[in-house]
Amino acid sequence: MLDIHATYTYNFPTTIRFGIGVIKELGPYLKEHNLSRPLLVTDELVFGLPFFKTIIADLEKVGISPAVFYDMHKNPLKSDVLKGGDAYHGHECDSIVGIGGGVAMDVARSIVLRVNHTRDLFDYDDLIGGDKYVTEEVPHFITVPTTSGTGSEVGRSAIISDDETRQKKILFSPKLLAKIVFADPMLTLDLPSFVTAATGMDALTHNMEAFLSKGFNPMCDGIAISGMRLIGTSIVQATKEPNMFSRSKMMIGSLMGAVAFQKGLGIVHSLAHPLSSLLDTHHGLANAICLPHGLKYNYQGFEDKYNFMAYSMNLGTNQGKILVDHIEILNQQLGLPDSLSQIGVKEEHIKPLAALAVKDFCLPSNPKIVTEEEFEQIYRNAL
Ligand SMILES: [Fe+2]
Repeated sequence: MLDIHATYTYNFPTTIRFGIGVIKELGPYLKEHNLSRPLLVTDELVFGLPFFKTIIADLEKVGISPAVFYDMHKNPLKSDVLKGGDAYHGHECDSIVGIGGGVAMDVARSIVLRVNHTRDLFDYDDLIGGDKYVTEEVPHFITVPTTSGTGSEVGRSAIISDDETRQKKILFSPKLLAKIVFADPMLTLDLPSFVTAATGMDALTHNMEAFLSKGFNPMCDGIAISGMRLIGTSIVQATKEPNMFSRSKMMIGSLMGAVAFQKGLGIVHSLAHPLSSLLDTHHGLANAICLPHGLKYNYQGFEDKYNFMAYSMNLGTNQGKILVDHIEILNQQLGLPDSLSQIGVKEEHIKPLAALAVKDFCLPSNPKIVTEEEFEQIYRNAL
């Protein structure tokens, strides 16, 4: 059971310091590792928040001189990363601390790569085998999440878009893992309710899709089941009447989702990604709307796994058959839209969406094959 007054250490595979107040350990940690000039990478919104100023003041108090980089787009671009790399060298930094949600983490992780890797950034694109060029040392990398959703603080990849074509590239290497995460739920206390609900549903989807995905990884399965329990039993409270208990459960549950999805994701993310690419839909919102439809598609043949998930979410034994209804009710309780038409999707979008979904990088790990025609049908059902 979660003890709200305790702090925790986990290691799978990144060391995680979790609990109220662990952000105060950042300065002492840097000192202990002889690091005195970190580049704090964040987005403009977080840069303006009071807790960010407190982090800087706390670092300065212990003799650390941080530099800050926050010049990035909502969908981060290659030019953002190049500027960040220049900032690292220009300020003569010795480490990188990513502070924020998925965007700040993607940029921070890409700067970690960029600092000592001077080929064209997209030569390192994982989809063309670019990780083989990731051969040099990388700066000491630390992450501090301020949302409970992407779980990118424990990830080893970053998605960056081309400035002209807006095509997304994946930069990946085990070297891009953070050495340590400081996961302090205090930093999420003031998250707006929409962000809590939508990013929380993304995190729930990570746990559910990881559990359902192909492959044998019982350690990830165990983490995913536990992660979906934490989120499933706290997301409504965290959205409507947040307290430190629900914020803490959301934070560790979302982090667990990202640890678990090294096993793979599936159809729901394959449905969601094209909505963000074509219509700029918020990633968490896209997943929230698509989750019941993806779960419906995968149900037959996996009834036992659905029973397991339903049990983990306090729906009782042998209740896998009501899981889809439960997710729909959850979306309603969170005030999220329950159809694609409510976020501007029209019949004319369905074919282009399905054409992208069938090529999505998350689909190969889905437990069932999905054809382009089936994607069209699923999108139509969700309209
Ligand atoms: Fe996601």
